[in-house]
Amino acid sequence: MEVIITSDYDEMSRVAAAVIRRQILRKPNCVLGLATGNTPVGTYQELIRLHREEGLDFSKVATFNLDEYIGLQPAHPQSYNYFMREQLFNHINIAPGNVYIPNGMAEDIDGFCQWYEGQIQARGGIDLQLLGIGRDGHVAFNEPGSSLGSRTRLKTLTEETIEDNARFFDDPSEVPNFAITMGVGTILEAREIVLIANGENKAPVCAKFIEGPVTATVTASALQLHPSVIVVLDEGAASQLQRRDYYNWIQNQKRKLSGIPSQVSFVGRPVAE
Ligand code: PGA
Repeated sequence: MEVIITSDYDEMSRVAAAVIRRQILRKPNCVLGLATGNTPVGTYQELIRLHREEGLDFSKVATFNLDEYIGLQPAHPQSYNYFMREQLFNHINIAPGNVYIPNGMAEDIDGFCQWYEGQIQARGGIDLQLLGIGRDGHVAFNEPGSSLGSRTRLKTLTEETIEDNARFFDDPSEVPNFAITMGVGTILEAREIVLIANGENKAPVCAKFIEGPVTATVTASALQLHPSVIVVLDEGAASQLQRRDYYNWIQNQKRKLSGIPSQVSFVGRPVAE
């Protein structure tokens, strides 16, 4: 994993958006995996800015979202479908036919999940997957104990996740208990992954998934098995890492050595030595 420690949420968001921009410039018809939650909002704002001010072109890009609540209509303000349109899709030139979000109203959930996996394959697989992380270590809704080989499926949410997400609902009892989520195995098939996290409340879980053992108890730790992962943290989320000096040293070395650029050297500020 390449761990990039940024000074604050805005810089974390700019770095993540720059990784996505680089992917789109390399392959204009790329397939992006997208995430919801508070963490990626700034990344999406930066992508909208890049579209408006620098002409970043999404017209050939396809997207697959990680997850969706069971039982919420796409028009429900707390659905992830609604979130994505409000936070990103309504503000860029993506083709509606290129947008895939799990259907939480599907009658045949298992059939839908198989279809979703098939669509990812039919589009050539995910080139770059954006991830957040839950306090319990989940990526997408792969709660603790999820198989590290899991595929897109129905998942029962933990009480901790339901509590965390209750803040978005007027009535906390309305938070769905179930979701459709891509599996850990599905996520690991993406060619490149960028995980973002900010705030001190994410510090314990970031220390666990980056520096602890690979375990289904912290599903994000499975990213240690992936050959191309960038983790972008702010100072708060990085505050419990044991090897943060080393991660910063690596970034500084990459900036110094021509020919071995940092993954995102064109956006990163020099880290103070
Ligand atoms: P958050 O959620 O971005 O709102 O913290 C992350 C997650 O649960 O995956």
